[in-house]
Amino acid sequence: MGHVIATTNMKGGVGKTTLTVNVATALAKYHNKRVLVVDLDPQISATLSLMSPADFARLRRDGKTLKFLLQQEITGTPGSLQVREAIQAYGGSVKGLDILPGDIDLYNDFLVSEVLYRKAIRNPERNFEKVWGKFELSLMKAVLDPVRSDYDFILLDCAPSYNLVTRSSLTISDYYLIPAKAEPLSYIGMQLLERQIRKLVESHGIDRQQQTRLLGIVFTMSRNIFAGRHYKRVMDRIRKEFGTAQIFKASIPMDVSVAKAVDSFRPAVISESNSAGAKAFRAVTKELLDRLTPQSARLSGENKGPVNLTKLD
Ligand SMILES: Nc1ncnc2c1ncn2[C@@H]1O[C@H](COP(=O)(O)OP(=O)(O)OP(=O)(O)O)[C@@H](O)[C@H]1O
Ligand SMILES: [Mg+2]
Repeated sequence: MGHVIATTNMKGGVGKTTLTVNVATALAKYHNKRVLVVDLDPQISATLSLMSPADFARLRRDGKTLKFLLQQEITGTPGSLQVREAIQAYGGSVKGLDILPGDIDLYNDFLVSEVLYRKAIRNPERNFEKVWGKFELSLMKAVLDPVRSDYDFILLDCAPSYNLVTRSSLTISDYYLIPAKAEPLSYIGMQLLERQIRKLVESHGIDRQQQTRLLGIVFTMSRNIFAGRHYKRVMDRIRKEFGTAQIFKASIPMDVSVAKAVDSFRPAVISESNSAGAKAFRAVTKELLDRLTPQSARLSGENKGPVNLTKLD
């Protein structure tokens, strides 16, 4: 069974999508892995980093995006669209890389509440919270279980909000990866995320072996002033709070070729492979693979398990 990794941070614009698509592409291109990118964000940035808007529009017209798979689960009518029909092979000639396209409206909150409310009142216990919890646990599991064994890696590009799909994804992921800018607000965002994940795991009673674990924090969009006193102070604080072992040694520099790559639907690791950004993404990918090796002390030793942050409680 492969690894399911959610790229997540409650803070927006920290480089989640860029990290996801570049690491996914590098895993397929340079490490011969079978990789699926799942776009969970209605901004559809991961989708549009890997395919043209025209291709996306065609898939949407044909009813082959994540929205239609979620809808089937929400309305309790699975079957007409299989997840394999919605998954697309990446068109940019990287063998082994697939994408499950997202959608600009993934699901309707009102419909979810209505369906779950009806379910709850039919149940003798009339426990809405319990019905909701069960649904949260099953939603993304139902979508991805049929293809889990097809891939070495399934990378989930989360939206910058802690919504139903983010939570459901965290319940099925083996690990989560946090991209972060070295800024004080980013530090708060990480603390909030840790706290939410801890609550999520507790509320669902997920046992320790099944819990999502922090794979690491990747500093993104670093600039030359990164080494300046202010940034160093922020990074030291993050290291102290999360532990040095949780921080990736490689960081991603600010590099215009990384941003430009979106225009060609070819992530920088293949379109600008000699750029500083591409090299950094390859280094992060290599480190990610090292962290997942069974002998990796970081994951098998004392740092196992989500970081326990209590300061915000
Ligand atoms: N290393 C980099 N160098 C230059 N630009 C970058 C780099 N990484 C990301 N960007 C640009 O910064 C912007 C935000 O990046 P990205 O979309 O990956 O962040 P995000 O965390 O996924 O955002 P959101 O929270 O909205 O989903 C994008 O325009 C992207 O092209
Ligand atoms: Mg994004």
